[in-house]
Amino acid sequence: MRTHFCGLVDEALIGQTVTLCGWVNKARVQSHQVFVDLRDHEGIVQVLVESDQLELFAVAGASGAEDCVRVTGAVRARYAANDKIKTGKVEIVPTSIEVLNKAEPLPFHAHENAGEETRLTYRYLDLRRPEMQHAMRTRIRLVQALRQWLDARGFQDIETPILTKATPEGARDFLVPARMHPGEFYALPQSPQLFKQILMIAGFDRYYQIARCFRDEALRADRQLEFTQLDMEFAWVGERDVQDATEEMIRVVFKDVMDVELANPFPRMTYAEAMRRYGSDKPDLRIASEFVDIAELVKTCEFKVFTDWANAADGRVIALRAPGGATLSRKQIDDCGAHAAKFGAKGLAWMKIEDAAKGREGIASPIAKFLDDVTLDAIVQATGAQTGDAIFFGAADTKTASDFMGALRLKLGKDLNLIEAGWKPLWVTDFPMFEWDAEDQRYVALHHPFTAPAVDDIDDLRANAKTAVSRGYDMVLNGNEIGGGSIRIHNSAMQSAVFDLLGIGKEEAELKFGFLLDALKYGAPPHGGIAFGIDRIAALMAGTESIRDVIAFPKTTTAQCLMTGAPSPIPDAQLKEVHVKVRDEE
Ligand code: AMO
Ligand code: AMP
Repeated sequence: MRTHFCGLVDEALIGQTVTLCGWVNKARVQSHQVFVDLRDHEGIVQVLVESDQLELFAVAGASGAEDCVRVTGAVRARYAANDKIKTGKVEIVPTSIEVLNKAEPLPFHAHENAGEETRLTYRYLDLRRPEMQHAMRTRIRLVQALRQWLDARGFQDIETPILTKATPEGARDFLVPARMHPGEFYALPQSPQLFKQILMIAGFDRYYQIARCFRDEALRADRQLEFTQLDMEFAWVGERDVQDATEEMIRVVFKDVMDVELANPFPRMTYAEAMRRYGSDKPDLRIASEFVDIAELVKTCEFKVFTDWANAADGRVIALRAPGGATLSRKQIDDCGAHAAKFGAKGLAWMKIEDAAKGREGIASPIAKFLDDVTLDAIVQATGAQTGDAIFFGAADTKTASDFMGALRLKLGKDLNLIEAGWKPLWVTDFPMFEWDAEDQRYVALHHPFTAPAVDDIDDLRANAKTAVSRGYDMVLNGNEIGGGSIRIHNSAMQSAVFDLLGIGKEEAELKFGFLLDALKYGAPPHGGIAFGIDRIAALMAGTESIRDVIAFPKTTTAQCLMTGAPSPIPDAQLKEVHVKVRDEE
């Protein structure tokens, strides 16, 4: 139907006749001319119709936004070039304009950014917008670059089942009724974790898959019910082998897709250090401010909240410098308090350093009156705060204080413009093996139950479960967890012991994971791997706030597809076929 793409017509074609197909981006009708901006996936080109071309002038003048048209005409140099678009030096003088499909009045225009609900309902119109085309293409280029790297290094692309058995990654499963087995269900994979481990046992060293994963969990800007991983597994490796290889891969794709040079090597930090310095297991290193522990300085001060937590066995008193924070208004400080409260803070003390040279006189703070001159000065010194800065304080049990001060650090980063430009990758290592779930009174796996502990000895692990460190690691980029993996347990006895510590009894373990426990007995090589969140990396590359912008057909935060209307009720007859009865929930 066409000889060229609209967005690629350039000066080299001047004097030639081209046929283009596209959407009418905009038609501007003047008394003697009609300018039609014709758009396809490559970009926009201008079609100019003069009023002496009577018939064409009428057709062009009547064209509306998003009509599909075919134009044949000569390429000529533009009278006045437009430097803003690639085709700005040329225009098309048509000999024919054919309207292939007239568009009805639109719910919104392709060149405007409408509300998210409208955009998702008419996703096809939204996706036509150049910003969305760019975001999606960034994702496509990312996946191409990843595959190129993987294929060149002999990684083998193997598909694993979608209808399968539950793999615990910490979320709820999506279930599919099995028509041929009344009352039984398949689960959609939360990840291909167990299959890729079994592929290592089966001799397919170096596996990868661009794998769809399904997790029934609360949606957020960086979470969808179904999302895509680059899933990888290696046999005969230790953690550095996996980390070094995949770090190189990420560097190569950032260079390919973004022309960005990431640090070589990536910095590394243990989980404990990340929590201590940033209150996060995915610290955003673009923000320079770090926690300063001031328990020692306030152990005997007059502020009870501080002394209580400074002297508590599991307490923490954290000070955080906010460069430029003295400009924060009362309302902004209250907003910080409200934000910290969402993460468990009972209060958020603060200090504004209005003039560092004046000591106490130069400090505005609701808690200064509780602190003597020496303590006040020591706190300012410890944080390095200068005139014009603020200091925020959090006192609580270690976990709560770290959490809410970590959340505050990110908010201050945004509010005070403290986020440096650029890319800050990081490995976080040495995660705890288990987390204590106070509600259920049992341990849960911090990564997943197949992650190897740092110790090889089962008795040692049992005796020190509370403080046990795992061989898990995460790759973090600009405060986002973009990948997570581990060295796996490759020994059946150790796997059984870990199930046991997780409160998964022998019978349950046999029922759910018997196939794995068996496979581990027949010559399972040491193995490990990682999975990267493709949607998250693509969103970072495309510079979008939400992974929804790099997923062609995403779900809303209420877990719906507004375009198709999924999920939707199913007729009784169809439910009966799969032996399902919907319960009346009160
Ligand atoms: P994990 O659960 O850490 O590990 O997932 C790996 C990466 O996938 C991305 N991710 C998500 N992206 C979008 N929406 C979600 N709901 C979502 N959940 C996770 C993150 C994360 O780092 N089987 C293990 C991997 C392994 O051990 O090899 C796993 O799935 O970027
Ligand atoms: P109060 O004397 O209760 O008004 O508290 C004085 C200041 O300390 C207020 O700014 C409170 O927000 C703050 N504050 C109270 N509890 C904590 C806490 N656990 N950590 C940090 N600051 C707190």
